[in-house]
Amino acid sequence: MPRTPKILCVYYSFSGQTTKLVRAFAEGFVHGGGEAVIVRLHPVEKIHFPFQSIFSAFWMMFRTLFRIRDKVSERAGDAEGFDAVLIGGPTWSFNPSGPVLSWLDEEGREVLANKRVVPLISCRGYWGLHHWELKRAIKSLGGTSLSPLVFTHPVAEPWRSVGVFLSLVGKRPERMPFFGKRYPRYGHSSDQVEDARRLGSELAHLLAKEGDEGPKSGWRGLVA
Ligand SMILES: Cc1cc2nc3c(=O)[nH]c(=O)nc-3n(C[C@H](O)[C@H](O)[C@H](O)COP(=O)(O)O)c2cc1C
Repeated sequence: MPRTPKILCVYYSFSGQTTKLVRAFAEGFVHGGGEAVIVRLHPVEKIHFPFQSIFSAFWMMFRTLFRIRDKVSERAGDAEGFDAVLIGGPTWSFNPSGPVLSWLDEEGREVLANKRVVPLISCRGYWGLHHWELKRAIKSLGGTSLSPLVFTHPVAEPWRSVGVFLSLVGKRPERMPFFGKRYPRYGHSSDQVEDARRLGSELAHLLAKEGDEGPKSGWRGLVA
């Protein structure tokens, strides 16, 4: 009788993109025969989407360059009994976001030690340093980092960068006459959300097959 694998998904999302991906991943995981528990992190000092001014957007980009932490109100609690942990969030100024960094400081060791950890990254397009930092943090906290799930916004530059910035400050670039033809939406496509769902299901199958024998080869993650 195959075991029911369990995954704990801890994530932060500012503008809803990571939420879509993590929800789809968790639904896929459950569809694949597993159990998923989701913990969404919220900063103690609320960060409003969209930013209220161009200045506050630049200020956030500036402070996250220095990996300033944003304290969060949630605790994921005991991870005993989970086969894997997913840690998800957006890239902020090339780094993991302040709420995720804060959670890693506060609870990372307790939750990630001796666990397999899947990093999930939602970003406009630059994720290399973010992934490297997450991998380093996971290792130093005693976990094993598995291949990541990386989702970039599927729009060509320079429309993508300009479109993201406009969206973050509350504009609707996809509705602008000239711009909108080159920028269909802010964020991830429905195909990418379906990829997240498919991979959730795939991981559940792999974990169910392997029992407690350690990291399973066969998990390759995704960069999309
Ligand atoms: C303050 C800030 C800084 C950002 N910096 C980057 C960056 O350096 N590289 C990148 O690819 N995307 C960057 N982005 C874009 C987000 O990573 C992207 O929009 C992501 O999909 C948002 O996910 P979320 O809705 O879950 O917060 C930044 C967004 C914000 C708010």
